[in-house]
Amino acid sequence: MSATIIDGKAFAAGLRERVGKLAGEFEAKAGRKAGLAVVLVGEDPASEVYVRSKGKATVALGMESFEYRLPADTPQEELVAMVERLNADPSVDGILVQLPLPKHLDEKAVIAAVDPDKDVDGITPTNAGRLVLGMDTLVSCTPLGCTMILKDMLGDFSGMDAVIVGRSILFGKPMAQLLLAENCTVTMAHSRTRDLPGLLRRADIVVAAVGVPELIRGDWLKPGAIVLDGGINRLEAGPGEAKGRLVGDVAFDEALDHVKAITPVPGGVGATTIAVLMRNTIVAAYRNEG
Ligand code: GUN
Repeated sequence: MSATIIDGKAFAAGLRERVGKLAGEFEAKAGRKAGLAVVLVGEDPASEVYVRSKGKATVALGMESFEYRLPADTPQEELVAMVERLNADPSVDGILVQLPLPKHLDEKAVIAAVDPDKDVDGITPTNAGRLVLGMDTLVSCTPLGCTMILKDMLGDFSGMDAVIVGRSILFGKPMAQLLLAENCTVTMAHSRTRDLPGLLRRADIVVAAVGVPELIRGDWLKPGAIVLDGGINRLEAGPGEAKGRLVGDVAFDEALDHVKAITPVPGGVGATTIAVLMRNTIVAAYRNEG
């Protein structure tokens, strides 16, 4: 069996087109562009790349991008004060504090300082709670993108067995809530799970984001499963390579012989995240403008 390779780039392009239209309509109606503020603390190179890409995408879709770069030793009070200024700024519809933060900062307290109506990551206590309660809310971008892909592919996935590998606040936990809301039977696996292969052999849907390169082997997967790989791991550079290859959490080539469909790395789940962030920003803008 040869699997369908799910094209995250094409999915993202379609979503960006819809968001671009909405952004134009928003500007005509509100007399201003929708605005996204991204805050980066420190100089983590991967985060730098993400933040630059987010800024470019925002501008390309006709929205306003505000970028704030703070030194790695920024005190907690200063970061919270910046978030509070952005909460009060009417030109800012969405706020994203790039994670992870440097170790000395209290990440949970910083997240809790974001106005839930501007929380385009969907991780403030209010929005995380609203998601659990099944209320309409802003939802973390990567799991929302995964759910949109599954809806596109399957329509209804009620009753399917889903295994999520990873329990982060940005990915695994909201993913579980979204799949529960679609009536999946959800199992969450993580670093202390005893028998991951055993769990995965039963899964119709596998969603992975643990950051362990090629952890999940092809023969662990149920024949006909659908696999969404949210891992983005760079391998060590081999001889003659300037940079190591990017791989996911799933051994892609092995999985191709087992599954019905799988997202590649790169060009799969990761390709959709920024497009969903743009979608969340325009949704927040319309709501905030009333
Ligand atoms: N770091 C990696 N992905 C994300 C994301 O979706 N949101 C935030 N805030 N930080 C991230």
